[in-house]
Amino acid sequence: MSDISFSSYRKNDIHGVSLYPATMIAPVQHKIMASLFRDNDISSVYDPYHGSGTALFEAAKLDLNCNIIGCDINPLAHLITYSKLKGVTQKIEDDIQSLFFLIEKTPEYNFEFDNISKWFRADIIASLKKIRWAITQISSKRNRAFFWIVFANTIRKYSNSRSSTYKLHIKDMVDINRLHNNVIRDFQKQVENNYQKFTLKAPNVTLLKGDILKMSRKLADRSMDLTITSPPYGDNQTTVPYGQFSSLALFWIDSKDLKLEGWELDNYSKIDRMSLGGQRKNTLTHFGETLLEPYLNEISKEKQTKVINFFADYFISLDDICRVTDKYIVMTLGNRTVDRININLTEITSRYLESNGFILVNTLSRDIPIKRTPRLTSKVRNEAVSSMNEEFVIIHSRQ
Ligand SMILES: C[S@@+](CC[C@H](N)C(=O)[O-])C[C@H]1O[C@@H](n2cnc3c(N)ncnc32)[C@H](O)[C@@H]1O
Repeated sequence: MSDISFSSYRKNDIHGVSLYPATMIAPVQHKIMASLFRDNDISSVYDPYHGSGTALFEAAKLDLNCNIIGCDINPLAHLITYSKLKGVTQKIEDDIQSLFFLIEKTPEYNFEFDNISKWFRADIIASLKKIRWAITQISSKRNRAFFWIVFANTIRKYSNSRSSTYKLHIKDMVDINRLHNNVIRDFQKQVENNYQKFTLKAPNVTLLKGDILKMSRKLADRSMDLTITSPPYGDNQTTVPYGQFSSLALFWIDSKDLKLEGWELDNYSKIDRMSLGGQRKNTLTHFGETLLEPYLNEISKEKQTKVINFFADYFISLDDICRVTDKYIVMTLGNRTVDRININLTEITSRYLESNGFILVNTLSRDIPIKRTPRLTSKVRNEAVSSMNEEFVIIHSRQ
């Protein structure tokens, strides 16, 4: 497989409709799967960290009848992926008309959550409340899901949080005051411009919402032909805070339309703390320790704990991926820098998969062209430290 740069790809397709951090590049996953599907009789695809569902949607595009199973701990990821894979109904144009009509007819009602007025201006809250109410009046679950994920983008765009980071970080007052309230028209335009992208309706889809370390127990040994995924690269709090990024939208979206376990809205960082490596839950095996040893010796004690917590969870997840996968494992990974030490996640993962009976058949790499996480993420003794800027795709096959 030659070129996987796809540097001209601009996400004008379904994958650009609702933003999510650190997504895969759809054509890369498509190209890899097209070749694996062609030569290996693949009829089931599993993504244990599906995020916005890039790989699963591309799998369904290649083979609509494919058995698709995914998991994510973040309810926004779940909703976006559900909407992409289930599409909208044939009544969508009627529902859009009703929705736009209802927005203008919204009654006065109470709606608030902790700190709502910190994150949104009063007039913006009033406009968002109209859209929110109107969506709750639509009877089709699939059409509501599409409206919610467009709404999620509107929420982010009109919040008082900076768009330059995935973390919640309040804007300067001048910028907050300068924001022009075009919420309703903007939302309507996004709905009109995008509903036609949601035409796929994959029949064999199971989306598990929860911690993969628990959810994967539901899956039988060697039950999935292909696992294709991009896991987190470290604990969410110090790498990509998927939960914090999603939290404002999750507070706004009607919880009846979210798959919630109950703890997700406790605070803005709860999802990140419950994600891989967010807490000390597991310990490293001897083999895990051997793989990490060259890196751990080089970094500060405090950072060591975070790295160990992450890898203890990560290796258990890899064990499970190997147990569940029958033929191929494809992983998109970045190498993360901690205390100026480059942690070679790609090599660590490959060695771990090989020790579990999956041999490396190909490694592909590409520069990450657009990134919101700055290339220089933190400072160690006042020197900037680089984050990830190249990603790797490793392809392993069962021996
Ligand atoms: C790199 S992102 C996946 C992005 C995805 N490939 C896409 O294209 O949108 C990693 C995902 O792992 C999820 N995650 C982190 N810890 C998890 C856990 N313990 N169980 C399930 N999902 C988890 C995050 O919520 C995030 O959506």
